Amino acid sequence: MAEIKSVGIIGIGSYVPETILTNEKLETMVDTTDEWIVSRTGIKERRIAKEDEACSDLAVRAALKALEDANTKPEEIDLIIVSTITPDFAFPSTAALVQDRIGAINAAAFDLEAACTGFVYGLVTGANFIATGMYKKVLVIGSEALSKIIDWEDRNTCVLFGDGASAAILGEVEKGYGIISYDLKAKGSGGEFLDQPGGGSRNPATVKTIENKMHFLKMKGQDVFKFAVTAIPETINNILEKTDINIKDIELVVPHQANYRIIGSAAKKIDLPVEKFYMNLETYGNTSSASIGLALDEAIKKNKIKKDDYIIMVGFGAGLTYGSCLIKWSKEV
Ligand code: COA
Repeated sequence: MAEIKSVGIIGIGSYVPETILTNEKLETMVDTTDEWIVSRTGIKERRIAKEDEACSDLAVRAALKALEDANTKPEEIDLIIVSTITPDFAFPSTAALVQDRIGAINAAAFDLEAACTGFVYGLVTGANFIATGMYKKVLVIGSEALSKIIDWEDRNTCVLFGDGASAAILGEVEKGYGIISYDLKAKGSGGEFLDQPGGGSRNPATVKTIENKMHFLKMKGQDVFKFAVTAIPETINNILEKTDINIKDIELVVPHQANYRIIGSAAKKIDLPVEKFYMNLETYGNTSSASIGLALDEAIKKNKIKKDDYIIMVGFGAGLTYGSCLIKWSKEV
């Protein structure tokens, strides 16, 4: 077996739909208030895809930006992984649709379903193909059109989510840089806390499943909250334990953007100032698979990350899944 290669992010891009849905507008749709949403979640607005805009449309736009940032041609891509819980279709995969649309003629393509941990799962999975020396460039995309599976009459869920996509190109980087530790976990016993019960092979789509609104996202908010506030510190401790890097060495944590209270609680538990957690949930809400990449892209553009920084990305969500990865940033920005 060839020597294991160091793998990092060599390009990144993101895209959000133009339409902004504010808390004020939501006040006219369901029994809620801007004050309730902001105080419980930190979210002020989110983006909503057009009626004819699907997951792959958002994914392609983010992918093209990431390719440009990495100075990489589509035909150089060996593998495309799309993380999503809102694929265009059950099949074909959204990754295959993207492969065709961007002209990645040499790429394999598959979808990955780990919900809000999907971007981390995708990075780690893609990196391993390159670490072995088998592939050179992998495109990892997190893309969601969550607005299409939201019950816009359910105030418990409709205020939380938004649409968007983010993409990263993985490639070989200098030794000692890139992904240096990771931890991926699942806790399937909590699957019912966050699900879309209708439309799959358990409850195939029928008039009854539609009438019972089983094709919409369902959530037990407090159970998810309790899970998240323990999952984040657990997985971060797990990745640090595998290295000689201390939490104090971490320059920035890019967490899944679900709720500022979840992030605040996790920050306290790992004894890192909350200012070290990059947050943009105020403007995009929870975009599931897309959220970590969206935040990372923004953090880079705001010069919050520089070469040699230790960065943690951490996710948690439906599955339940959770996980994190530690990156020594290799790209000059
Ligand atoms: N506007 C106004 N009131 C609302 C509301 C809304 N949008 N949504 C729920 N409420 C009401 C509830 O009906 C409840 O009213 P009741 O006491 O009369 O029954 C009250 O607010 C409190 O609800 P509760 O669920 O206890 O609120 P909470 O403090 O737990 O906050 C969440 C709710 C959803 C914000 C919180 O549980 C949460 O963030 N959970 C994690 C969700 C998440 O991040 N999911 C994705 C993970 S990837």
